[in-house]
Amino acid sequence: MNIILLGPPGAGKGTQSQRLVENHGMRQLSTGDMLRSAVKAATPIGLQAKAVMERGEFVSDEIVSALIDAELAAMGEGVGAIFDGYPRTAAQSEALDEILAKHGRKLDHVIELDVNEDALVERITGRFTCANCGKGYHDTFETPRQQGVCDKCGSTEFKRRPDDTEETVRKRMGEYRGKTAPILEPYDERGIVTRVDGMAAIDDVTAAIDAVLS
Ligand code: AP5
Repeated sequence: MNIILLGPPGAGKGTQSQRLVENHGMRQLSTGDMLRSAVKAATPIGLQAKAVMERGEFVSDEIVSALIDAELAAMGEGVGAIFDGYPRTAAQSEALDEILAKHGRKLDHVIELDVNEDALVERITGRFTCANCGKGYHDTFETPRQQGVCDKCGSTEFKRRPDDTEETVRKRMGEYRGKTAPILEPYDERGIVTRVDGMAAIDDVTAAIDAVLS
């Protein structure tokens, strides 16, 4: 099964992707994570992407589609893909159709996390991740069971993203409204879109997504 998780910054795409990986053995393909790795490793793509990401703007369609193509080429045939943060433009959406066909896959579901944008600023500015294993947390909504210790790997190092300031979050939301939201219409016409209430509790969102996939 191949699915797209769609929603504005902070909608919960990464959170729900992690659960799909744990519960269904799917593979998360997050272009945001791929780009952050490239920035950290100072690769040519990372050097190009760094300033663009810090401004809250989109990296070029060609770069992100090439990243997705390479990841799918390296994936086992029987493993389902979760597209997290990709596609984000009409050009990326068209590229994804071609890439999937090339790898003998098809798109089964587009799940839109329906959220109230005002609440997202609080979600994003409060989030942090384990610096070792990447597990996501939130100051209020999802704290480690033991304060300062990662539930998953026991690390005591955590980090926050440089683009998680209120100003950049609002810019990222504008990009989502202007360039990403319109790509839903063609998927709607194909009858593969399900809208899930992304303002519900994290476990309830997971249950709603599971119901779509079952
Ligand atoms: P990316 O990393 O994809 O960021 P984003 O889309 O802005 O999404 P986020 O990761 O911020 O949010 P999320 O929906 O995953 O929310 P999360 O689960 O963490 O992209 C970053 C940048 O890279 C872009 O701005 C762009 O520059 C570039 N880029 C990436 N892909 C690109 C592409 N395809 N084309 C061009 N450029 C690209 O949740 C947020 C917090 O809320 C967490 O703390 C979580 O615990 C909490 N939370 C989640 N769900 C709930 C809930 N139901 N109730 C309460 N709290 C919740």
